[in-house]
Amino acid sequence: MKTFGPTKLDATIIPKIARQWGTPVYLHDQAYIENSCEQLLNMPNAYGLHVRYAMKANSDRTVLRVVTNKGLDLDCSSLEEAARAFAAGIPYSRMMLTTQEVASGEERAELEEMIKAGLKYNVCSMTQFQLIADFAKKNNIDLSIRVHPGAAGGGESQTRDTGSEYSCFGVHLNDVPTVKALADQQGLRFTQVHVHIGSGGDPEKWRENIDRELGFVRTYFPDATTVSFGGGLKVARMAGEKQADIASLGTYAKQRIQEFKEATGRELQMEIEPGTFVVANSGHIITRIIDKKLTNEMNFLIVDGGMELLTRPLLYGSEHPIAIVRQDGTLLSSEYDGTPAAGLKSFGIVGRCCESGDSVRLDGDGNIVPVQIVEPEIGDYVVIGGTGAYSESMSPENYNSHRKPPAVMKTRSGELVLIRKKQVREQLVQNELDVKL
Ligand SMILES: Cc1ncc(COP(=O)(O)O)c(C=O)c1O
Repeated sequence: MKTFGPTKLDATIIPKIARQWGTPVYLHDQAYIENSCEQLLNMPNAYGLHVRYAMKANSDRTVLRVVTNKGLDLDCSSLEEAARAFAAGIPYSRMMLTTQEVASGEERAELEEMIKAGLKYNVCSMTQFQLIADFAKKNNIDLSIRVHPGAAGGGESQTRDTGSEYSCFGVHLNDVPTVKALADQQGLRFTQVHVHIGSGGDPEKWRENIDRELGFVRTYFPDATTVSFGGGLKVARMAGEKQADIASLGTYAKQRIQEFKEATGRELQMEIEPGTFVVANSGHIITRIIDKKLTNEMNFLIVDGGMELLTRPLLYGSEHPIAIVRQDGTLLSSEYDGTPAAGLKSFGIVGRCCESGDSVRLDGDGNIVPVQIVEPEIGDYVVIGGTGAYSESMSPENYNSHRKPPAVMKTRSGELVLIRKKQVREQLVQNELDVKL
């Protein structure tokens, strides 16, 4: 059984998609997304499970609809995300807001309307608490609180670790007694406690967090009925990466929550909010080779999409599997299944941005790392896998004035459907004003 990597690549559809919609182009897979939703919804649990999709991973409306139609609710990280999901037809009652924002003015009014319509507000700082307290009291609204656990190591890199001393997310565990005392004074209840330790870390850290979180729920939060363990469930994009075992993590959480019940008499519902796990391996980026440069130091393939579509390699040194597909749909070589063919050659694969770090593979120092592939021709395709999460939602799009590419969904029945058009040139400048200075 395949234990890592993106959904199997059908190389024959690559030229078809490229011809119809051009390159670069994002490709998603409905069946993959739905299957990962099912896997999460079937996670073992003691007294109920609520799964939210962290929509920052990919906030396209079609993706949101696929995920919410499967029964997942949403984790939003900004008012704009909540408004965007609402515009996609998803009610506020299916969203929780966990944000660094401190809404004021019109945004504050909007936030209050969203909360009245059922959005769950996850208090992430003392300031946020102080500003929401009167409104929550007046409207009889129970709150959730995000706690910074003061324990590092939950992320795949320092930049994705939200429990370390370098991270400011949530109310620090040291400050919880103060916030709790203030809430008690005002008669406010925290009915949910939330911790997100980071993204893509070792699943063992996820287990440790369950124990730690249940410990402080017991100490500080007698009103909590739901405990959220956040997202961060690791997916394996490349050979050798260890994917989070959902069944095993669920079994562990179930046992701990049952023990909590035995000790306290309280039945806690479990909540999780993965983003990566839902969509990462459903996505591919199809690029076309537009140039080749063979130098004494390195062989380069220049493709028509890079860091402006996928920034993770430059940002985190993250690795994505590469497949090389000929113009007739023949698969030349593939890292997707970890079985590279013989006759491989080293190529640095770079995009067309005027930026030396514009590559699909870099080391921690920002040096380009060659990929082992069968040598292709100009016009062939480089397909980048594991790009369903944090690529189109997170890219420095329009850098070098490249236009955001279209996105295509392969439906459950195998049909290829355009879900987002390519940006038109006017969109690059539409908000600029013709000011004469
Ligand atoms: C609060 C919160 N929840 C969930 C997630 C989703 O994490 P992942 O995509 O690793 O599952 C994130 C990601 O940064 C987050 O900040």
